Amino acid sequence: RILILDFGSQYSQLIARRVRDSGVFCEMLPYDIDTQRITEFGAKGVILSGGPESVHAENSPRINDAVFELNVPVLGICYGMQAMADRFGGQVHASDIHEFGAATIEVTGHSHLTEGIEDSKSEASLAKLNVWMSHGDKVIEAPEGFDIIASTPSCPIAIMANDDKQYYGLQFHPEVTHTLQGQALLSRFVHQICECAGEWTPDNIIDMRVAQLKEQIGDKQVLLGLSGGVDSSVVAAILHKAIGDQLTCVFVDNGLLRLHEGDQVMQVFAENMGVKVIRVDAEDLFLNALAGESDPEKKRKIIGKTFIDVFANSAREVSEQSDGKVVEFLAQGTIYPDVIESAKSHQGKAHVIKSHHNVGGLPDDLAFELVEPLRDLFKDEVRKLGITLGLPEKMIYRHPFPGPGLGVRILGEVKKEYADILRLADAIFMQELERSGWYEKTAQAFAVFQPIKSVGVVGDGRRYAWVIALRAVETVDFMTARFAHLPYELIETVSNRIMNEIAEVSRVTYDVSSKPPATIEWE
Ligand code: XMP
Repeated sequence: RILILDFGSQYSQLIARRVRDSGVFCEMLPYDIDTQRITEFGAKGVILSGGPESVHAENSPRINDAVFELNVPVLGICYGMQAMADRFGGQVHASDIHEFGAATIEVTGHSHLTEGIEDSKSEASLAKLNVWMSHGDKVIEAPEGFDIIASTPSCPIAIMANDDKQYYGLQFHPEVTHTLQGQALLSRFVHQICECAGEWTPDNIIDMRVAQLKEQIGDKQVLLGLSGGVDSSVVAAILHKAIGDQLTCVFVDNGLLRLHEGDQVMQVFAENMGVKVIRVDAEDLFLNALAGESDPEKKRKIIGKTFIDVFANSAREVSEQSDGKVVEFLAQGTIYPDVIESAKSHQGKAHVIKSHHNVGGLPDDLAFELVEPLRDLFKDEVRKLGITLGLPEKMIYRHPFPGPGLGVRILGEVKKEYADILRLADAIFMQELERSGWYEKTAQAFAVFQPIKSVGVVGDGRRYAWVIALRAVETVDFMTARFAHLPYELIETVSNRIMNEIAEVSRVTYDVSSKPPATIEWE
């Protein structure tokens, strides 16, 4: 396994993903983690990430010397390289001028790391590499024992290497896809230099997890709130494989789900896989609780609280019914980005409850130990596990769906009549997106119910009915988003179908707002 020490670069997470993509397990820890964690990690190699600081600044982050006492290969990226150069007596030039963007570097020296890696040949050098730079400071004098392997006109040491010690430095970012040979470089580092075997595959991960889960849980009972989303679905599948009937899933149908969603969840888990799933029909409860409320945040709170009440009740019932065996474990679909995020904001305090799972506020009489089998996995790894575990692709590659569901897609007060209309309109939109191949090209898409009436004409008569808005966005991180440029023909088909098939809708609009300043959801 590989240890990545994070010096705060915006790309740090990508390093971990690339290393895992090459089949090697790695974890990312803050650069100032305890020395003990570093020595006990069992690293076969260490990667030092980039970061926003300058080694010349007072109190700038330093590499813990324990890293170099491990006697394993070390790869410094950007700030990681500068900190390593500084540590071994090289010279780092401080600069306010930021070099940012694509660059071509010339490889002029030999090293184990760069052997056989090239984008193109060149007469003047051994190879040329197209890389992505993002730095202010740069190393201008390599430390003793290090050779200069590559450079550009503006960056005299783009790669430095000490093959004896197996210490390497890259000024550019191999973890971003713009560095064409980046994956190859990282793969070479972990496989050839650190000699890690490529054992991080979905089958192996599942086998290891199943063994760990059996050991952790023994013959105890586990409860899981199943939402039908990717993470909780994969948790259900892997727990079922590990402990079979000791797992009980609770699926809360709150009346704010998409068309046939509840049936699909029951079909996949209960019928096809034989997982014990309790489906709680709580539509009336949720809709009654929401009656009269039109404030978006209050609606969210009501939905969250009602969810906890329903879930807690089921938990008590399951506990009472499991032959006297008390349910001791609560499973959660926490994934690695959640852990990294909460470590950042809670300074390493682990086990912060994933808020949108809505189980943060379970009453005190329900004390569970947490089971989080996906805690160290990225979303794409979770998806691969899901596929390997036999879950349908449609479930694994679906768009995210917010916890409050249609509750925040019906503007203002939520009513059953509105939810039923919205479900139909949304289903038509999804069908047409899938049919046209646009579902995969958008990150999230849905219909929104607008409680305003608009005039239409059907045959000889006038129709005074509701308005549906269509929303589709392209985004990677959901922090910013562009409205999807769907073809007019597709929008036309969806709009015609909605107005013809749903008598209660007289008008369809397409949302052309991007985020910011709009948000993805309408509430
Ligand atoms: P916004 O609307 O903030 O949405 O641009 C960004 C992403 O977050 C999802 N979202 C939620 N998810 N509970 C959730 O579980 C919520 O209350 C909630 N609000 C927004 C939204 O669907 C999008 O993916």
